[in-house]
Amino acid sequence: MYQALYRKYRPRLFSDVIGQPQVTVTLKNELKAGRVSHAYLFTGSHGTGKTTCAKILAKAVNCLEPADGDPCGVCSMCRGVDDGSVLDVVEIDAASNNGVDSIRSLIEESGFTPALARYRVYIIDEVHMLSVAAFNALLKTLEEPPAHVIFILATTEVHKLLPTIVSRCQRFDFRRIAPEDIAARLEWVCGEEGLSIDRDAAMLLAVTADGGMRDALSLLDQCVSRAEGRITADLVTEAVGLAGRKHLLLFAEQIQNGDRTAALELLDRLYRSGKDMGRLCEELTSFFRSLMLMKTMKDPGSMVSAVGEERKSMERAALKMDLSAILHGLEAFQTALSRMRTANKRIEMEMTLIRLCTPELDISPEALLRRVEALERGGVRLAAQPKSAEEPPEPLPEPEIPAPAAPDELRPAVRPARGPAAVSTEALSRSAQPFAAWPEIIAVMKDYSSSVGAAFAGSAAYVSGEYLLIDAPQLAFDLLKRPSQRDRMREAVRQVTGQVYKLGPYKPPKEDAEKGEKEDPLDALVRDLKADGVEIVES
Ligand SMILES: Nc1ncnc2c1ncn2[C@@H]1O[C@H](COP(=O)(O)OP(=O)(O)O)[C@@H](O)[C@H]1O
Ligand SMILES: [Mg+2]
Ligand SMILES: [Zn+2]
Repeated sequence: MYQALYRKYRPRLFSDVIGQPQVTVTLKNELKAGRVSHAYLFTGSHGTGKTTCAKILAKAVNCLEPADGDPCGVCSMCRGVDDGSVLDVVEIDAASNNGVDSIRSLIEESGFTPALARYRVYIIDEVHMLSVAAFNALLKTLEEPPAHVIFILATTEVHKLLPTIVSRCQRFDFRRIAPEDIAARLEWVCGEEGLSIDRDAAMLLAVTADGGMRDALSLLDQCVSRAEGRITADLVTEAVGLAGRKHLLLFAEQIQNGDRTAALELLDRLYRSGKDMGRLCEELTSFFRSLMLMKTMKDPGSMVSAVGEERKSMERAALKMDLSAILHGLEAFQTALSRMRTANKRIEMEMTLIRLCTPELDISPEALLRRVEALERGGVRLAAQPKSAEEPPEPLPEPEIPAPAAPDELRPAVRPARGPAAVSTEALSRSAQPFAAWPEIIAVMKDYSSSVGAAFAGSAAYVSGEYLLIDAPQLAFDLLKRPSQRDRMREAVRQVTGQVYKLGPYKPPKEDAEKGEKEDPLDALVRDLKADGVEIVES
């Protein structure tokens, strides 16, 4: 059975771990001297050896015949930890088990002495993903850990941990690994696999991996599957370009198909693998620009930088997508990018993808245009008033885009004949955005007082600039009139989002109420077009 290279070559001894002597040498010396802490914190960017060292440590403290601080690797304990049969070593992925319940049951179990091993070891990976309530539960145990328990917390984002947690742990910072060290390891792995790799190909992979051994090995995997014989620098360039941007193609496809779930799952995977959300948004903006150029020009030539197979797959994507969807994406990602300076980047990306996959939730002109196009395809089409009785009705021309043009200059050409100004001010007046972290904040409030939490049942919140606007029953506002409760709420918001907001009540824009909440923006557009003498023809 095929096993990914990064899993196959996971170091089993501290002495196999490269580039982290400040961790491995220190731990070995302490273990040799019989010094064991009850809480370790491993921090650093992904793929640098945190989980690997946590597992080695779990074996080293329980090994029946440790040698020089390293586990022996062959005794029943070492083998049991490796194959998962020793139940005293527990791995928890906080990214998927972030509920307070899993931590509570962990803490209950930790009271029992281990079944077989000397120490019960809990490895909590991505510990920054735990909910605040779960953190607080964990903190209590870290204050007085049972003698037979060791916690190993690992995280890429140590700044998200409560200082009280960090101060209770022995902390080890994992560094990005030097490219020379990564390249040497890649050459060694290739040797083990019976493959040959050029020195500059190994260096190119190492530099691209940006200090992460896991990424380097995953990239090597992709090269291996494409290589015929030697792995060369040219092959690496091609494989890396494709792999690095595959997710952009996927997003484009999901937006075109309206597949919200897939888009959010992909985003989550990228986030957890350490992808910077701002960088991703920039990449998507320039990717959608390329799609726009490919869709509208015969040959955009060097205006689009992709080459070879990557370019071909982009051309296929541009062919499949509607121009209106491409423009909608471009507009939305640019807006998100500018909002990211003040808003939570991850939430911003989530909202943008939801809106792009669900144009009916979005009232921007770009979204309306997409819906008009979809309707036209579905059988309803918009036709211009015939110029004279003799002439047959003439369908509205497809919006023509003068290419090449900067995205900003495009807008007038693709907007409906009337009312761009009216639509955009309307959009602005409703600039408050749904606040995705609200349920988590209510959960924190509930933990503090269940009756206060209950007052917010069924509530919602929106963000507009520095304001958090709350839509809740009167009872909740009565509570918030008290300064102590307001502080509580602000603190809960800060704990969950890391940001400070001013609080206020949410009031839907007046204009809306007058028009009657129910009017669909598309109906409004059709009404406006009719007023302009455009006849709606059902075919
Ligand atoms: N310092 C290292 N030395 C050797 N291999 C490493 C190192 N760090 C990571 N790797 C490789 O990357 C894989 C993933 O590493 P892992 O320990 O899970 O990273 P982290 O937990 O820091 O994200 C390992 O299985 C191993 O193949
Ligand atoms: Mg890990
Ligand atoms: Zn052993």
